[in-house]
Amino acid sequence: MALEGLDNDKLKLIIFGGKGGVGKTSCAIASALAMAENYKTLLISTDPAHSLADCLEQPIGFHEVLIVGAPGLTAIEVVAEEALSVFKKAHSSELKKLFDTSTNFDTDDINELMSLSLPGIDEIMSFKTIIDFIEEGRYEKYIVDTAPTGHALRLIASPKLLDQWIKVAARMRWKYRYIISSFAGSYTEDEVDAFLLGLKKTVKRIENLLSNKERCEFIPVCIPESMAITESVRLLADLKTSGVIAHQLIVNNVMTSEDSDFCRKRKAGQLPYLLQVKEVFPGFNKVEVPMFPTEIKGLETLNQLKNYLFKKIAVNS
Ligand SMILES: Nc1ncnc2c1ncn2[C@@H]1O[C@H](COP(=O)(O)OP(=O)(O)OP(=O)(O)O)[C@@H](O)[C@H]1O
Ligand SMILES: [Mg+2]
Repeated sequence: MALEGLDNDKLKLIIFGGKGGVGKTSCAIASALAMAENYKTLLISTDPAHSLADCLEQPIGFHEVLIVGAPGLTAIEVVAEEALSVFKKAHSSELKKLFDTSTNFDTDDINELMSLSLPGIDEIMSFKTIIDFIEEGRYEKYIVDTAPTGHALRLIASPKLLDQWIKVAARMRWKYRYIISSFAGSYTEDEVDAFLLGLKKTVKRIENLLSNKERCEFIPVCIPESMAITESVRLLADLKTSGVIAHQLIVNNVMTSEDSDFCRKRKAGQLPYLLQVKEVFPGFNKVEVPMFPTEIKGLETLNQLKNYLFKKIAVNS
């Protein structure tokens, strides 16, 4: 089988995830190469240990870079700390005013609080970067390469976490609003209220996008090995709880050769797991990709992988 439906014009966001080392980055790039043939495509890495540049053999960073040899494809590696520092700079006055009006903190306390790293903030900033790109609308497809399972799940859960923070901030503001309106008789919304409302709208937009079957798809990548399959089952269960749709799965590193005793043993060893994949993911479009004789690096092997994923080559050829 081949990956299906990615060329649907409505589908904007395609996220690749799975256990460490199973081929997420390779498959994300290969799919981005396929999309770039017909769509203006942005390939985004949210993995703090970025590997797009190594795999594509050209420098990429936290800025859009055209991929040489792949017209229509641009890539970016998100650096969450940088995204956070840009965000803080852009909203420092609202953030300071929020703490100033809602707490007893002095300026030093507020500055210290704002320099703290909050759990989950990296994923929130990564997702905010993605949604900002999508809303700018300069590309037609956005392909996301994630770090291993836990990170991808935190990424998906990040709007909920941001929503919880907004609720706490809104509660803090409520007391301030109450005091002002008691003394002044009325309360006029200020830039902090507008800022919180803006964040709330961002959360809603991300949640709507993630749960929209037509606009967003998650593609898990696994290999025919016990732990990778177990982790994919867990990943898909957690995605379902978050309302994110997945209906196809890549099974990478399938041994096809029988040229040596080693190959025959690996192939026989994989067989029960290939059957298990069929059993535990019923109804899924399962795309098998053979184990290549070399690592997947550079456009030549990436294009070969693309041909397997989009079935310009059959798996046993
Ligand atoms: N089908 C394949 N045949 C041979 N080598 C492969 C295949 N798929 C991936 N590889 C190689 O396996 C290694 C891991 O692949 P990749 O970086 O795509 O995985 P990943 O899931 O993104 O890893 P990480 O979790 O570290 O981000 C790389 O060296 C890649 O070249
Ligand atoms: Mg990777």
